Amino acid sequence: MGGGAVRPLKTDLPLNRDLEAYLTDARQGVERGAFPAGIITDPRLHEREKTHVFSKTWVFIAHETELPDPGDYVIRYISDDSFIVIRDESGHVRVLLNSCRHHGNVLCRAEMGNTSHFRCSYHGWTYNNRGDLVGVPALAESYGDTLDKSRWCLVPPPKVDSYNGLIFACTDPHAPSLLDHLSDLRWYLDLFTRRSEAGLRVVGTPQRWIVDSNWKLGADNFVGDAYHTLMTHRSMVEVGLLPPDPKVASAPAHIALPNGHGLGVLGVPPGMILPEFQGYPEEIVESLERVYPSPEHVAVARRTIFIHGNVFPNLSFLNVLVSKDHMSAPVPFLTLRLWHPVSADKMEMWSWFLVEADAPDWFQELSYECYVRTFGISGVFEQDDTENWRNVTRGTKGPFSSQQTLNYEMGIDLKPDQTWPGPGAAYPTGYAEAAQRSFWSEWLRYMVGE
Ligand code: FES
Ligand code: FE
Repeated sequence: MGGGAVRPLKTDLPLNRDLEAYLTDARQGVERGAFPAGIITDPRLHEREKTHVFSKTWVFIAHETELPDPGDYVIRYISDDSFIVIRDESGHVRVLLNSCRHHGNVLCRAEMGNTSHFRCSYHGWTYNNRGDLVGVPALAESYGDTLDKSRWCLVPPPKVDSYNGLIFACTDPHAPSLLDHLSDLRWYLDLFTRRSEAGLRVVGTPQRWIVDSNWKLGADNFVGDAYHTLMTHRSMVEVGLLPPDPKVASAPAHIALPNGHGLGVLGVPPGMILPEFQGYPEEIVESLERVYPSPEHVAVARRTIFIHGNVFPNLSFLNVLVSKDHMSAPVPFLTLRLWHPVSADKMEMWSWFLVEADAPDWFQELSYECYVRTFGISGVFEQDDTENWRNVTRGTKGPFSSQQTLNYEMGIDLKPDQTWPGPGAAYPTGYAEAAQRSFWSEWLRYMVGE
């Protein structure tokens, strides 16, 4: 990857150009930090994403603790497809297309619940919670003995798998396995999810809301943009919710991983005193030393204060140490965010709060309160961020603005830090854009069908 000044791409209107050639040029541009603005919000790309990205890769659908009991279900989405994620009577989690096998009616209209059966509201075909067709009204009168019910079960996606409680599904039977897809990111997902013997649990239901932004801007921000903390969240520093040095997010490392994943694992900047292990309760610190898969995980966790990252394509994770108000000491919390595309300029944001299931009650409550006040739907950080993503969407979607070239050159000549204990290309600063370039490059790789 070479450096050099940002040069404009060919400036033909994307709409007037052959899409394949445009995407190929765009990929070359992104890799050298010259980012074609039109790839954010072009409506043709939104349609193509459905078949080229979301139908081809693994998408997060639920955390296993959202389904504690047999019969518990939630409805989740991959692109425009709706799936029932349910724990069946034998305790096995199943993912089933939420579409009746008779004439395609949406089978389950509630977003969550507990049930042994689903009955279609159109003609009444009924399925058990394993997806078997078990009831057909007036079977003898309507079909005689011609209907083989065993052929008309609810359809599962071709691939379902989980990693540390995170359940993913994939509608492409030829996609690589989930473990291959996650690749080196697993090391960091372990850092995030395996701090205690009991593992993480989701508290409550995910918060969901619509934002007038393209979904990729959420992924772009979480995959590597520690730089925005300086400006976007400056008011949080000023009111005392973040440590007093606005360069708090500048400490290493910025990590680009294979398959478009990336993250920041940010330590305590020189001269700043913050608690080891983010000030987690003693019980959790003792436990993580036993549970983490390697001493390197313990060493990184000891000095880390923020983790932000993105699982390609649209699941982000965040572990922040923040105060609930200017009078209180900072407390860590964990959240997962899903950027679900609705249209070229609109996404539905999903936000889950997670906590170590065996942490003391006082910590679980305090951690939840910090999350709600900062990154919940009305949280102060959340509003800082989404306001900017809305405006990037607005600022790049016009016929002239979409032809412009944006700057993604930060850190393009930096060399990875060979002493970093985890996998991936880890750069010795929080301020770099290698992970963003690799996210967009992977997205373009899918978009050109490679
Ligand atoms: Fe479901 Fe007819 S569409 S029973
Ligand atoms: Fe932010």
